[in-house]
Amino acid sequence: MTKVQHPISNYQCVSCGTEYEIEPFRYQCDCGENLDYIYNYNLIKRSWSKQTLAENPDRSHWRYLPLLPVQNVPENRSLQVGGTPLISFPEIANEFQIANFYIKDDTRNPSGSLKDRASDIGIQHATELGEETIVAASTGNAAASLAALSAFYGKKAVIIAPASAPKAKLTQILQYGATLILVKGSYDDAFDLSKKVVEKYGWYSRSTGINPVLSEGKKTVALEIAEQLNWKVPDKVFVPVGDGCIIGGVYKGFYDLLQLGWTSRIPKIIAVQAEDSAAIVTALMHDRSIEPVKAKTIADSISVDMPRDGMKAIRAVRKSGGFGVTVTDDEILSAQKDLASSSGIFAEPAASATYAGFLIALNDGKVKKSDEIVILITGSGLKDIPAAQKKISIPDPITPDLDHFKEAIYFIS
Ligand SMILES: Cc1ncc(COP(=O)(O)O)c(C=O)c1O
Ligand SMILES: [Zn+2]
Repeated sequence: MTKVQHPISNYQCVSCGTEYEIEPFRYQCDCGENLDYIYNYNLIKRSWSKQTLAENPDRSHWRYLPLLPVQNVPENRSLQVGGTPLISFPEIANEFQIANFYIKDDTRNPSGSLKDRASDIGIQHATELGEETIVAASTGNAAASLAALSAFYGKKAVIIAPASAPKAKLTQILQYGATLILVKGSYDDAFDLSKKVVEKYGWYSRSTGINPVLSEGKKTVALEIAEQLNWKVPDKVFVPVGDGCIIGGVYKGFYDLLQLGWTSRIPKIIAVQAEDSAAIVTALMHDRSIEPVKAKTIADSISVDMPRDGMKAIRAVRKSGGFGVTVTDDEILSAQKDLASSSGIFAEPAASATYAGFLIALNDGKVKKSDEIVILITGSGLKDIPAAQKKISIPDPITPDLDHFKEAIYFIS
């Protein structure tokens, strides 16, 4: 499948509105803010319809090529990024007396997080630009994801991450064979170094919040949700927010579909942040610009001092008529345990934050009985076992005979 014509007309700055030609590729606006890809929807509609999409046997997110900022799909797509299930939980919907409750389970991506969507499209973009080495600053998942997909596609990945990143994520990065540079400092320090490295060495940057390709990759989660619901979009989508790239992408996906006329509206997009890492939600609540915070939360993936895609995040919430919610670490960890034991889906803290945020919104009367709700589960609980162990206790071993078993089972129940 090759594109007939490039459907992208230009880039536009999310802040000052300046437009740029699509070639040559550029990361950001001259004003320092981030760019959007502007598609020529009329051109896309000429050769792509819901029906041609339905006939496409590719189950990965590459089925949405006409809405992606690259020319071609990779030859080998067998690792399968995207195409994750949207799972309905009627029991949870009944319990909370709402119309429908769905989990979009993006733990099923190859490296266990939604970030694979951005890495996959980013690597193809790098390939089309002739780049072989890709560098990323990351709290962990983007790096694990870049490392995994670079291994699959035969690229060189250089990862810059805070030394505090969970061991499981660092292990993934090294297992996949990427070069890992740990910094003494926060994710924000890693990000600043990655920017300097890209300037110095000219490598391709897969750092969230400067490369506009990445939110285009993340938007495929929204395209899938809409297609899985047969183009009837849900009422509210809960999204965990760190830099704001995922939520910006979710909005862009629903926006693109509305422009194509395939859907009739954009769902309300709810930004969920940890209480002590809530630069975006605080800005939303006080209707002011984003100010940096000193982030501190167990949910490492959303622990961000200064969000790098904050404007797209604010736009997603405001334009969709959504709102922001903050959750405490304790609420995140309780939600992780409740979600796993009621749904079978084991989410990392950043991801279970959406379930915690949903419960708070419900309690605050911000969820209606008629609502169809989707929560995004963006990363697997296996990525941070020490965090998950805070709400469980592993039982002491017993002598393996029935008497001890009876004693133990009596004690447990
Ligand atoms: C599992 C998970 N959830 C949510 C996020 C937050 O995404 P963003 O930084 O784009 O807001 C991340 C980012 O690392 C993540 O890994
Ligand atoms: Zn600008």
